[in-house]
Amino acid sequence: MSRIAVIGCGYVGAVSAACFAHLGHEVECVDTDPERVALLDAGRSPIHEPGLDELLRTGVAAGRLSFRSTYPDRFAARIVFIAVNTPESQEGAADIRAVRDAVTAVAARLQPGSIIVNKSTVPIGTGDLVVGMARRSGQCPFAVVSNPEFLREGSAISDFMNPDRIVLGSDDRVAIDRVADLYGPLEAHVQRVDIRTAEMIKYASNAFLATKISFINEIAAICEALGADVAEVARGMGMDSRIGHQFLSAGLGWGGSCFPKDVKALAHMAAVHGAHPQLLRSVMEINRDQQFRALQKVREAVGVLDDARVAILGASFKANTDDIRNSPALALASLLQLEGARVTVYDPVVQARRVQDAVPGVAVAASVLEAARDAEAVVLATDWLEFQLLDWQAVARVVARPVVIDARNALEPRTLAAAGFEYRCIGRPGNKQRPAPAALEQLEVSA
Ligand SMILES: NC(=O)c1ccc[n+]([C@@H]2O[C@H](COP(=O)([O-])OP(=O)(O)OC[C@H]3O[C@@H](n4cnc5c(N)ncnc54)[C@H](O)[C@@H]3O)[C@@H](O)[C@H]2O)c1
Repeated sequence: MSRIAVIGCGYVGAVSAACFAHLGHEVECVDTDPERVALLDAGRSPIHEPGLDELLRTGVAAGRLSFRSTYPDRFAARIVFIAVNTPESQEGAADIRAVRDAVTAVAARLQPGSIIVNKSTVPIGTGDLVVGMARRSGQCPFAVVSNPEFLREGSAISDFMNPDRIVLGSDDRVAIDRVADLYGPLEAHVQRVDIRTAEMIKYASNAFLATKISFINEIAAICEALGADVAEVARGMGMDSRIGHQFLSAGLGWGGSCFPKDVKALAHMAAVHGAHPQLLRSVMEINRDQQFRALQKVREAVGVLDDARVAILGASFKANTDDIRNSPALALASLLQLEGARVTVYDPVVQARRVQDAVPGVAVAASVLEAARDAEAVVLATDWLEFQLLDWQAVARVVARPVVIDARNALEPRTLAAAGFEYRCIGRPGNKQRPAPAALEQLEVSA
């Protein structure tokens, strides 16, 4: 077993550190946020991630996991992972200042023969930049390996422990082997590539998944126009092993801390290097339109949005996480507010303060029934299981008008109808829309 260090203890760093400790490694972590470090060092997760609390507790108790908010004078570990944030900059490029800061701090504290492993999602070429930083600094020489992370929030522990593949990029084969050994117990397939290819695999993967979602959302719009059911279309498509079911659900679009910034950053990189990223631009445009389409559905259902009470169920960008970064649910809340609606949000795990910081003026309820009370429309914006299992009869008793807009296609239309709700969803016959005669004529002509 090895000694390793992890820099940055957010969704990726905390999960990776806890999982590496679970695999038996001794893991020393540094994060510049002292509040976060205090929680982690007490074996408590600062984020909502199923299973993380327990892994942290056992890791800390076993003495294999420690956290600090300042860098040590010298790292005992010879393999140091960088997992700091790389947010979107104003121009749409990834902002790698935190990576630069972390590498600078780490490089000054390494022992000879160390490896810096980058887990943050960074623009293609950043690994080479880090190699250059090392050469220029004249400090202790170290190898650089790119090891992009593919975990999904909400199932991050299981994703880390059962990876589809581990991508390692470097021109230093020995360094790659040493990092691969850390993952040995997982018996996962390791893909060894050069550093730029590893960095690109991460961007291309996220861009492809976002494309898949935007694709089915576009198909949903066409289904609505022509009277087909996008849920069945996706089911039929997904059974084709070349296509698969995942990321093929029409809804409110993609969000979170990764897809929006990564697709934008890839498009930016492409554009500034003379490639014309027209598909990526369309993928982003379709995603933005999806929020407007949901807004339009609420408008159609309610009539005049000004002063209308609307309940939004879900604040996080997807179920099983408390991450609200680029959440389509909150984007829709803002759009509704702009039209004068009085919006109340309920989320099972996201703190009220964070929702109100993100969408000033929004009300936050402590339960679904509180959010739905006197509402003229209830919008399901995040597909938490809790909402699918709701007693919709009870919800029907408190609303002002029985209207549900299922922006995630997560509910069973018959259940809602049985509870007396007018039900609208995305690209399914539950919608009010019927095939336009013109569209049907066109279909007959082309057939
Ligand atoms: N969140 C995901 O699902 C996910 C999945 C795969 C890859 N990624 C990528 O992994 C990286 C990290 O993402 P995240 O969601 O974990 O970010 P995060 O914002 O949750 O956490 C980043 C952490 O780094 C700390 N930090 C910043 N600068 C530091 C420094 N110089 N030294 C020490 N600590 C520092 C911050 O305090 C914060 O706790 C990003 O590049 C992201 O794109 C994220």
